[in-house]
Amino acid sequence: MIRNTLPREAYSKWVEVDLDALRHNLQLLRQHASSARILGVVKANAYGHNVSIIAPALFAEGVSEFGVATLGEALYLQEICPQAEQILILGALAEPQYKSVIEAGFEFMLHTVAHIPLLDTLAQRLKKPAKVHLKIDTGMGRVGIMPEEVPFALKALLETTQIELRGICSHLACSDEPASEYIYGQIEKFKQVGEQFKAHALSERFQPIFHLANSDAVFQYPEAHFDMVRPGISLYGYSGVPADKRPDLKPVLALKSHISQFKQVPAGSSLGYGRTFTTTRSSRLGVVALGYADGMNRRLSNQQEVLISGYRMPIVGRISMDQCVIDLTELPFWAEPGIEVVFIGSSGQDQISAQEWADQLGTIPYEILTGLGTRLPRYPA
Ligand SMILES: Cc1ncc(COP(=O)(O)O)c(C=O)c1O
Repeated sequence: MIRNTLPREAYSKWVEVDLDALRHNLQLLRQHASSARILGVVKANAYGHNVSIIAPALFAEGVSEFGVATLGEALYLQEICPQAEQILILGALAEPQYKSVIEAGFEFMLHTVAHIPLLDTLAQRLKKPAKVHLKIDTGMGRVGIMPEEVPFALKALLETTQIELRGICSHLACSDEPASEYIYGQIEKFKQVGEQFKAHALSERFQPIFHLANSDAVFQYPEAHFDMVRPGISLYGYSGVPADKRPDLKPVLALKSHISQFKQVPAGSSLGYGRTFTTTRSSRLGVVALGYADGMNRRLSNQQEVLISGYRMPIVGRISMDQCVIDLTELPFWAEPGIEVVFIGSSGQDQISAQEWADQLGTIPYEILTGLGTRLPRYPA
């Protein structure tokens, strides 16, 4: 992540973060989550938006619990948002990381029964509690203990003295699908874990919170809300919920640039590496300093459009590492140096979303947003 040391005008390309949109999305999530607490998922640099802008903004709106993926992200978040009440590391940690995690007081996933005795020994030595959330694999097929192992995990935890069971959680595999039998099955398995826990002696020592829902489950599966929900992508304005039922979320991120050079070329001019585009008429072109190193996938070459004052103009020729070329021939006015080019965001009546890029590339907005280059400065809009 480059530091925004210069004013925005000094950069040829930048990301704008719309905090009104963030607040709107949070409000919508709160309406759906009703009494459940909200843990703001800000891993991967807040899904590419810049966690040092997003986390304090969420905190100012009353979100004080955050989810990250790694120890490095947790340490950085602690530095930039020291007021955060709790930082939960969602990803599985490696054994050598436990010491730092316990020392820093982060909450983290207990995903292997075998780690229980070593965590307890370590926590006793450090004289600090290991604050764990027991992660159950109810059907995601990824990290977590299997439901059959729960009795062993509870028994092993009962024998510890320095492990605090703060939460019991799981993750859903396809919450973007409405009324999925698979999801109802996961919710059922999770409830059974809850019953097992309540009947166990450990419940006299701990009152862990139960949490299961990601963004789409907040909107589609109220049965999955439990004590806390963990939305990520919806905070940033995107959702996998089918279009007819999609909540009214607003994209938070815009990706913009300026034209660094205008040129007029004759018909028959080939453009860029590999000569994949040849003009068929005298053409006015705009060269823009944005390329695949900024996260604009090379497969968008000759496919994607940009917005200039609300008009859609095509990217022509191959996108290179740091540059691409826009065909301005059809632009109904004479663009002057300094005019803004919107790659993602709105301009005039029109909008280009990360979803549009994702559809072109056969992927999801998560990958587009988190793939935006670290050298792009991010600014509040
Ligand atoms: C454990 C966990 N919880 C919550 C989330 C947030 O998911 P989403 O961005 O779909 O809301 C993620 C993201 O991948 C996750 O791994």
